[in-house]
Amino acid sequence: MLNARASYYSAIVRAIGISVGIGGLAAIAAACSAQAHSAPPTWNHDVRPIVSAKCQSCHTQGGFAPFPMDSYADAVAHRASIASAVANRTMPPWPPNDSCNTYQHDRSLSEAQRNTLLAWATGEAPEGSPASYVPPAEGAAVALKIDRSIGAAAPYVPAISPDEYRCFVIDWNETNTKYVTGLRVTPGAISEVHHAIVFQIAPQDVAAVQKLDDADPAAGYSCFGTPGVDGAGWVGAWVPGSTGEVFPADTGIAIVPGSKLVVQMHYNTANTPPVPDRSTVDLQLADTVKTEAAVLKWTNPSWVFNHTMSIAAGDADSVQQFSFAPTNFMVKASGGALKNGLPFSIWSAALHMHARGVKASLHVEHADGTRECALQIDDWSFHWQGTYALQKPILVQPGDKLSIECHFDNSGKRQPTIGGQGAPVGPVNWGETTEDEMCLGLFYATQ
Ligand code: HEC
Repeated sequence: MLNARASYYSAIVRAIGISVGIGGLAAIAAACSAQAHSAPPTWNHDVRPIVSAKCQSCHTQGGFAPFPMDSYADAVAHRASIASAVANRTMPPWPPNDSCNTYQHDRSLSEAQRNTLLAWATGEAPEGSPASYVPPAEGAAVALKIDRSIGAAAPYVPAISPDEYRCFVIDWNETNTKYVTGLRVTPGAISEVHHAIVFQIAPQDVAAVQKLDDADPAAGYSCFGTPGVDGAGWVGAWVPGSTGEVFPADTGIAIVPGSKLVVQMHYNTANTPPVPDRSTVDLQLADTVKTEAAVLKWTNPSWVFNHTMSIAAGDADSVQQFSFAPTNFMVKASGGALKNGLPFSIWSAALHMHARGVKASLHVEHADGTRECALQIDDWSFHWQGTYALQKPILVQPGDKLSIECHFDNSGKRQPTIGGQGAPVGPVNWGETTEDEMCLGLFYATQ
């Protein structure tokens, strides 16, 4: 009897979608009466704060998404497709699997927010009083102190459609080591900028990058996976919707005198005419930090140097996996920022594959057999390369392994488009170009 009652009770709870804590019954009663009597959601009071926090970073006039949601008229005109995109969970785009970990600046909707948008878009979609709008606290731009804004010397008009990847070399005229402690990319032509990745080029690699730049007659040079030199260090990335990042307090990435920066721009002009773009990178800098950070590039060195990442022609699920305990090699892996044999913390994670990538994950495998998931992306898209800042850092102890796993579809279904045509099916291996693949993890790490 007790059990039967308990399951009846939990069925009610499930049906009305709230969880029961202390005072659960009272909460249910309150929720039931609120549901029965509350007015339907309005644009200004209920929907606009959600749209402002979760949609407008892309859906704004001249923005990257196909229509704006700046006003009631904009939103109400698209309410049928809003309802289906929200119901199917295709919008807002938020690639990480939420059961893996929790992140800062999470763009996904809570269940309550989804229900509000759905109730509004599938109902009468009333406007409500403009005075009832309260701007949301969430979704606000990251508070960055801008110490330096950098960008290409002149605007660039994309010359290759639909996708062009272009690297711009930027001088770094500092006489002392500076630490990047945060960054934000402000796209120039927001309609066509799909991603921007900021790399640092160490003094010994500057000549190689300069050669690539000089060999290409237009501004910058063509580049796909990376700026084309092995030693390029990842500083940060931007995809539409990102509001920038400030690194954990008192940590930063060192840039030594004599370095250069390279900003890789990905332009997508599939649905928009090419226009001049001069995007800027705003950097927050410090002369000193308490703890130097490194962006660790995690991959199997044998894939890179011996070409052992063999993806057979036609294989629809080629799995590439690598795990290794790194703590005895940290000086090398971090370019000297971290020490060997000590624990270190992972604060953010990113994944990088090319067009045939389907899904991938990054885990920490602790010596006691437990695993912590840092990032898992189940439906990889090259167009959404983001960096995800963990709510809580993961501690990696000596003996723990870092593990990366990538799945590739090398059947006819997922070949990259080259010159307007799908590439022919053939064996694929590690490399820089659209035709090659990568399986790379990136971690912001400190001791
Ligand atoms: C990070 C950028 C971004 C954010 C944030 C975003 N969208 Fe989109 N949205 C897009 C892009 C880009 C498209 C075009 C289709 C595509 O490329 O997937 C799109 C398309 C759509 C469409 C057209 C139908 C479809 O699925 O293609 C609807 C409706 C939509 N978005 C609703 C929303 C709503 C509602 C929100 C907020 C809850 C939202 N979007 C947040 C980028 C974004």
